[in-house]
Amino acid sequence: MTRSDSKPTGVFVLAAGKGTRMRSRLPKVAHRVAGRAMVEHVLRAAHDATAHRRTPPSGDHPKEPDRAGTVQVAETRYVLVLGHERDQVRAALRWAPEDLTLVEQEPQLGTGHAVRVARDALGNAARELGTVLVVYGDTPLIRAETLSDLLAQHAASHATITFITGEVAEDNDYGRVVRDGKGHVTGIVERRHATPEQTRIHEVNSGIYCFDAAWLWEHLDHLEPHPNGEYYLTDLIERAVAEKRTVATVMATISETSGVNDRVALAEAERMLRERILRDLMLSGVTIEDPASTYVEAGVRVGMDTILRPGTALRGGTVIGESCEIGPNSLVRDSHIGDGCRILASWVEEARMEAGSNIGPMSHLRPGAHLGKGVHLGNFAEVKNSTLGEGVKMGHFSFLGDATVGAHSNIAAGVITCNYASDGKKYPTTIGERVFIGSDTMLVAPVEIGDDALTGTGAVVRRDVPPGGIAVGMPARVIKYRETKSASGSKDAAQHSDEATVE
Ligand code: UD1
Ligand code: CA
Repeated sequence: MTRSDSKPTGVFVLAAGKGTRMRSRLPKVAHRVAGRAMVEHVLRAAHDATAHRRTPPSGDHPKEPDRAGTVQVAETRYVLVLGHERDQVRAALRWAPEDLTLVEQEPQLGTGHAVRVARDALGNAARELGTVLVVYGDTPLIRAETLSDLLAQHAASHATITFITGEVAEDNDYGRVVRDGKGHVTGIVERRHATPEQTRIHEVNSGIYCFDAAWLWEHLDHLEPHPNGEYYLTDLIERAVAEKRTVATVMATISETSGVNDRVALAEAERMLRERILRDLMLSGVTIEDPASTYVEAGVRVGMDTILRPGTALRGGTVIGESCEIGPNSLVRDSHIGDGCRILASWVEEARMEAGSNIGPMSHLRPGAHLGKGVHLGNFAEVKNSTLGEGVKMGHFSFLGDATVGAHSNIAAGVITCNYASDGKKYPTTIGERVFIGSDTMLVAPVEIGDDALTGTGAVVRRDVPPGGIAVGMPARVIKYRETKSASGSKDAAQHSDEATVE
């Protein structure tokens, strides 16, 4: 058993400051990458790497399993360092570890200072920590597996500091990793302080480190400020080397260690994460016709044999079943789509489609729309806060709001639920099973249509229709004749159209 395995681990996520180079009113770490705030990606990766670590790092003796059959590991303490903008960042988080300690760092005197603030927030608990994992909140691409490898290697090698480095081809912002003739790390030099020779170093600091906590506490308060007034966490590397402590590195690819300081890097991070998400989906059995025009946010789930066609965006907490066809040109946000559904050139938001239902082209499911099994919605259908029973058909340009439609009912063309009354309130419409709502029916809510009822073309339904009832209204009547060159001809035509209206 190693020291770090028996004592709690501290996870410090440094995320204070506006990040002036973003030129934004939003704090930098609240900007989204693949639909999630940058800092939320970091928190999730750190949490997945630590909270679920149920086996000790390699080389250790497994502990006795506890009663639940898992190997117990020491707890983890999560600290998130934010600045004045903490409320904005908190509002951007859709998820955070339950036991997260939030601390405000004002003013921001550098990454070394930020770790000091995090430590002080933990009070006495800081002294009990074995290992401290520090991750910068602007490194959204880091994977949980890489963080757990880092923790495992740090524990196994008994290093004082283990940190992740990356390779970058061109000149960049990152701190350079300086090594001696034997390849041992001697320090990290920030780009702005680097000599021309050091600038040419391709190995860079990712900003992700494991520290031996006792050593960190001993040295943190002795960091010297740089001329810009900042205390650099990176200076501790040189200090550890001077004390002949073990400093180890773990190499990761830039697609994980990329730090976002401006919107160019933000777009680059977005591209890399998107490619990773699409690749994972394809390898899990999803066909993506054109990855270049397909956008799937982190956390979206898609079942096997589903096809994503060009111009598709899947957002938020969307879950898509197996063997569906989504797109082209469709957007699905925070929705649940069952197996075998088809969404053609349509928008689906906070809605639910049961197995075998389909919509589009050019339709819109708004929040609270729920389509039962095998429902068919054709063109220009809009459904909001309504439940459509199994097998309901609504083929052409209709609107259902605050409605319930029973199984196997048919909504013809141009039907509208007039759910919004002049008193400013919304009222419900209830339609039974096997009902036929004729073209251009206006259902003035609140109103109820019984099972097996029928409404005629152009009916304006203000009162309830009993089960089996046939409700017709407003047939066009000929009221007079137009003055035309051939009066008799127009009379014939008018009579004809009157008959055609009363079906
Ligand atoms: C930092 C590293 C650099 C590394 C790069 C990796 C230092 C001195 N430099 O540079 O070696 O290559 O990250 O991306 O550490 N923060 C605070 N409080 C502060 C200052 C910063 O919480 O007082 C947070 C920021 O919100 C940010 C992170 O720490 O998320 C890193 O700060 P940033 O200013 O972006 O550092 P870089 O110049 O990118
Ligand atoms: Ca940065």
